[in-house]
Amino acid sequence: MLIEWKILPLSEWQTDAILFFAFEDSPQVLPGFKKWLQSQPWWEAELTPLKDFGGKYQQTAVYYSPKNHAIARAICVGLGQADKFDTEKLRDASATLLRKCRELQITRPALPLLALEGLSMDVAAALREALIGAMTGLYRYQALKTRDEEPDTFPEALSILDEKKPNDALEEALNDAGRTAGGIYLARDLVVAPANIATPQFLSDTARNLADRHGFKIQLIDLDTARQMNMGLFTAVAQGSLEPAYMIVLEHSPAGTEGDKPLVFVGKGITFDTGGISIKPSSKMEMMKHDMAGAAAILGAFKIFGEINLPKRILGILPCTENMPDGKAYKPGDVLRSMSGLTVEVISTDAEGRLILGDALSYALTRDPSAIVDIATLTGACIIALGDRVGAVMGNREELVRTIQEIGSRVGDRLWPLPQWDFYFDDLKSDVADFKNVGDRKGGAIVAGIFLKQFVPDSVPWAHLDIAGPAWSEKDLASTPKGATGFGVRVLVELARQWNQSEPY
Ligand code: BES
Ligand code: ZN
Ligand code: ZN
Repeated sequence: MLIEWKILPLSEWQTDAILFFAFEDSPQVLPGFKKWLQSQPWWEAELTPLKDFGGKYQQTAVYYSPKNHAIARAICVGLGQADKFDTEKLRDASATLLRKCRELQITRPALPLLALEGLSMDVAAALREALIGAMTGLYRYQALKTRDEEPDTFPEALSILDEKKPNDALEEALNDAGRTAGGIYLARDLVVAPANIATPQFLSDTARNLADRHGFKIQLIDLDTARQMNMGLFTAVAQGSLEPAYMIVLEHSPAGTEGDKPLVFVGKGITFDTGGISIKPSSKMEMMKHDMAGAAAILGAFKIFGEINLPKRILGILPCTENMPDGKAYKPGDVLRSMSGLTVEVISTDAEGRLILGDALSYALTRDPSAIVDIATLTGACIIALGDRVGAVMGNREELVRTIQEIGSRVGDRLWPLPQWDFYFDDLKSDVADFKNVGDRKGGAIVAGIFLKQFVPDSVPWAHLDIAGPAWSEKDLASTPKGATGFGVRVLVELARQWNQSEPY
């Protein structure tokens, strides 16, 4: 869907459908939109009472104009109660409007800028969030459908109507929304793609394309090289797979930042998690194609870093491999020597994410990071703890954890803190190695974090995001249609944007 400005006097506005919002409390059109109504006697009579409409969150109503009116329809969506309004509601309401347009096969709807006035937030920010909601809500993955494909023509374009030319903030809001949605689309495409397509090679090719387009440095550490670098955890997980594995290293270092310590993102890229020899039950195993959502979120974020040419030095480290059972596969009981030198006893080969991340964290340390943030579909336990719409955030700096939580709630990536007290490590004590990769089941998401913590010295600020739940949506929600959500892209981008590298945590 194309998004374009349409600058015309009120009286000349023309569209297949004009879109607007209303609150639940004595449902009324918002003050901005009222301005337009007052110039439209017919529509004013029709819309002022908002007949049959309660303004309930996500409720929609369609009003039709008499024949030959330049504005064929008006579509309204409820925002719920005004005192519960937040940007997430705006994104979801906006997604609902555009999905309604698609359902009604409307080619060219229009959002008057006036419709965003009176929302208790800055109009440019409201425009950005509404557009992000609109675009993410329309996402569909049809690449592999050869029949029953739904037409992708509706809506063709969304016009933003206003009487005067947009100022810089509004222009920027529109551009930013497009880039943000683009990053989320990339992450979703990668996550939803099946494991026979989205292989480690495919992720590497994607990273290389981004590097070519945006001038990132890229390094693909293959399995032989990883062995030479003593990445005994990563190579053990990869050794059972016939798909070539790669540790992808992407570096965004625009002119002037080369000497800075980088902010490093580390993302789990298990392109399929069978569990390995500790094999998973077959029911729902197909879901495990999404076990690379952490890596995908980082690729989505890098696309955005490239497009805005963010003036910060940022590294992405993506250990990518399948986790397969095989004659060559690693086994429960194996003791692995990590890149850090620490030895790990494998209890479950299904706790593979923490293993590949352990070596990726050690590699990150060799790049002199100002901070490390890892993101991973790491534990089922995290879903038990927080449900499947919320990720966990933990780390070794309270302030960094809080900042990530706060950014997340602002951009719609809900994250909740979990503790990292040292005693949790007791669970990982091993008789034969420095520690084991699995404890008993209690506090599983926290213990996985404690495992990762063993690879990060206290001197390096570090946070870990467990996105096992929210990376995938079972439900068809307004701005996150059923399937891959792109969770994490926005939180990583905003964290990088506000990163002040001279003020480490
Ligand atoms: N990839 C899974 C975690 C997961 C579960 C992600 C559900 C998304 C949805 C991970 O590798 C895994 O299998 N973890 C085990 C750890 C256990 C063996 C300690 C788990 O959560 O059961
Ligand atoms: Zn696993
Ligand atoms: Zn996994």
